[in-house]
Amino acid sequence: MEAERERAADGLVFEPVRTGEQIKEMTDLADEIWHEYFVTILSPDQIDYMVEKFQSAGAVKKQIADQGYQYYMLKLSGRLIGYTGIVEQPQEKRLFLSKLYLEKPFRGRGYASRTFEFLEELCRQKGLSAIWLTVNRFNDHTIRVYEKKGFVKVRTQAADIGNGYLMDDYIMEKHFS
Ligand SMILES: CC(C)(COP(=O)(O)OP(=O)(O)OC[C@H]1O[C@@H](n2cnc3c(N)ncnc32)[C@H](O)[C@@H]1OP(=O)(O)O)[C@@H](O)C(=O)NCCC(=O)NCCS
Repeated sequence: MEAERERAADGLVFEPVRTGEQIKEMTDLADEIWHEYFVTILSPDQIDYMVEKFQSAGAVKKQIADQGYQYYMLKLSGRLIGYTGIVEQPQEKRLFLSKLYLEKPFRGRGYASRTFEFLEELCRQKGLSAIWLTVNRFNDHTIRVYEKKGFVKVRTQAADIGNGYLMDDYIMEKHFS
């Protein structure tokens, strides 16, 4: 309830993504952010491939329908500013934070911190005591943000995502009570 009130206070809303229209709205933003942000870390071809494989409307629809994904759009007074995607893993008592992306003008303004409050509240409600995520090993700013929020690097992971592309990631996690 406390977190609910705080969110309402500054007009930031976490809107669950359910309909085809919402998926289209979110994946249009994903396409824009991934091409803008990853250009310094990944080749344009790899970004195209990853957006199609992970963040196209078809891919997201399947993730929600078959793979336990939940997506939320971050909206500020009705304006879409970012999104987050999660998977609850009750057997392991943890939450997988799969996606957290903010549109450029809205970075550095505390909205990721607000998202972590939202996710930790969700964890408390669901009896989950940790959040884990993967992050590209060269995504320096984001790694610093995660460390500031209490995440620690657990190990590295090189995942073959097909088409000759590897994802060179850290796995990070945060435990809380
Ligand atoms: C990663 C991302 C979501 C973080 O959002 P953000 O708006 O930059 O983060 P916030 O402004 O909410 O800051 C979060 C916290 O990190 C801290 N922080 C920000 N930059 C920091 C830095 N360079 N070093 C240390 N701490 C930093 C802030 O002080 C804040 O901490 P606090 O609330 O405890 O005081 C955002 O930068 C983004 O969308 N990046 C591009 C996409 C991306 O990399 N997504 C993640 C893929 S794994």
